[in-house]
Amino acid sequence: MSERTFSIIKPDAVKKGDAGAILAEIVKAGFKIVSIKKISISKSQAEGFYHVHSARPFFGELTEFMSSGAIVPMVLEKDNAIADLRKLMGATDPAKAEAGTIRKMFAASIGENAIHGSDAEDTAAFEIGYFFAGLELK
Ligand code: CMP
Repeated sequence: MSERTFSIIKPDAVKKGDAGAILAEIVKAGFKIVSIKKISISKSQAEGFYHVHSARPFFGELTEFMSSGAIVPMVLEKDNAIADLRKLMGATDPAKAEAGTIRKMFAASIGENAIHGSDAEDTAAFEIGYFFAGLELK
């Protein structure tokens, strides 16, 4: 069944000029881009987005990094989009990611790992609504 998920090309990948190549992998894997933009967010906006991780020791580092430069948030659609995007991204730690995955190809470390993807239906709904208004989601 067709499903929507949310993704962010993170500041490390945007800075390196890899956003276009990452988008090409996403499209090649069969995802339709429902909505996309290039923006920057503040540290407190990053804290709101990652609130489920607020007790983690890396929360400060994570939110500092996500507000350190431009990001490309997007809404993607295909059958089984949530699980399929996570497969395409590869493991959170690029050192553990399989060959051919986005993190294996483009990420440098567990903190600066090129791409985010929603991990479940409820988080996808929250994350889409955090970055996109209804009018942007035709
Ligand atoms: P993401 O999928 O965006 O969701 C939470 C993020 O926290 C994750 O990707 C990683 O980039 C980051 N993260 C997870 N573990 C660590 C860690 N040990 N140190 C720094 N960042 C981490």
